[in-house]
Amino acid sequence: MNDSIITLDRHILSEQRRYGGRGDFSAILSQIIFAAKVVSAQVAHAGLVEDILGRTGHTNVQGEEVQKLDVYANKVFINALNYIGKVCVMASEEEPEMIAIPKEHPKGDYVIMFDPLDGSSNIDVNVSIGTIFGIYKRVSDGEDGVLDDCLQPGRKLFGAGYIIYSSSVNLVYTTGNGVNGFSLDPSVGEFVLSHPNIQIPPRGKIYSTNEGNYAYWKKGTREYIEYLKSDRNKIKAPYSSRYIGSLVADFHRNLLKGGIFLYPEDTKDPKKTTGKLRLLYEANPLAFVVEQAGGYASTGYERILDIKPTKLHQRVPLIIGSKEDVLEYEEFAKRNI
Ligand code: AHG
Ligand code: MN
Ligand code: MN
Repeated sequence: MNDSIITLDRHILSEQRRYGGRGDFSAILSQIIFAAKVVSAQVAHAGLVEDILGRTGHTNVQGEEVQKLDVYANKVFINALNYIGKVCVMASEEEPEMIAIPKEHPKGDYVIMFDPLDGSSNIDVNVSIGTIFGIYKRVSDGEDGVLDDCLQPGRKLFGAGYIIYSSSVNLVYTTGNGVNGFSLDPSVGEFVLSHPNIQIPPRGKIYSTNEGNYAYWKKGTREYIEYLKSDRNKIKAPYSSRYIGSLVADFHRNLLKGGIFLYPEDTKDPKKTTGKLRLLYEANPLAFVVEQAGGYASTGYERILDIKPTKLHQRVPLIIGSKEDVLEYEEFAKRNI
């Protein structure tokens, strides 16, 4: 492999040398990379198995119970991170409570939040899915991490990123010094730098939202979407609608091309009156990435990264993407409080 190809491991090392920091964070990222490779292999395989065997019930060729991919991915990430001695506590979308580090393993200074498989309702129709992660430094002392370590505002994130399992497997991450994207080269099993220094366009031409919730949206949200679809002032043609239904896939496209993703609060379901997406392991990590790429993330009323979490699985409205677009949405939302 010639030296113009920068692997993710090499990039992490060069960031560590350039910006300081011990090898702990690099060790965590290396384990996340390993878990991502394991999950990506299973995602590809399970998509096949589901398609072929899905019609005869959910057992694989050995007659085993096919584990749901988000449960499987959850275990892979926990097992990859809980023994390395760098982590004091974790939280996952798939675990109702905090994930303690087993007593036989040493504890470390970091806290990991993750959504092991985002968009998992799409796996059986072979649509892109992903993993989202956020990494904090602990705030408590003592051995085991505690709830306060998990309930830190997103602006305290030390690092964050996501993996998208699609036609190619991409990993995008930031440690607060810009955003870089890597593509998995299956021939060597390495993530190689493919999207250096990602910057999201200040304004896009794409909006991503589930318009099926239109009737349940607040007035400001409805007016904003109507505004995007109108011919507005002549210099800005109507936006294009793109909605995959996997947050990571919708976010990744808008990060690269520009645009706005909206999952606002709606009254369709009591659980969604404060939005559907979870603050700790969906909104915060992506908000950290998008701001590092020059974008912005808001609830419509306040900056996502400033929210002081109160519960592990609390939900927030998420408006995220090109800064001018998100700020424009805020004008509509705030006019109609
Ligand atoms: P998860 O699979 O981790 O529960 O996340 C699903 C989320 C997110 O990926 C996506 O943006 C959103 O659900 C789609 O929700 P709707 O189907 O209500 O549009
Ligand atoms: Mn999710
Ligand atoms: Mn999930």
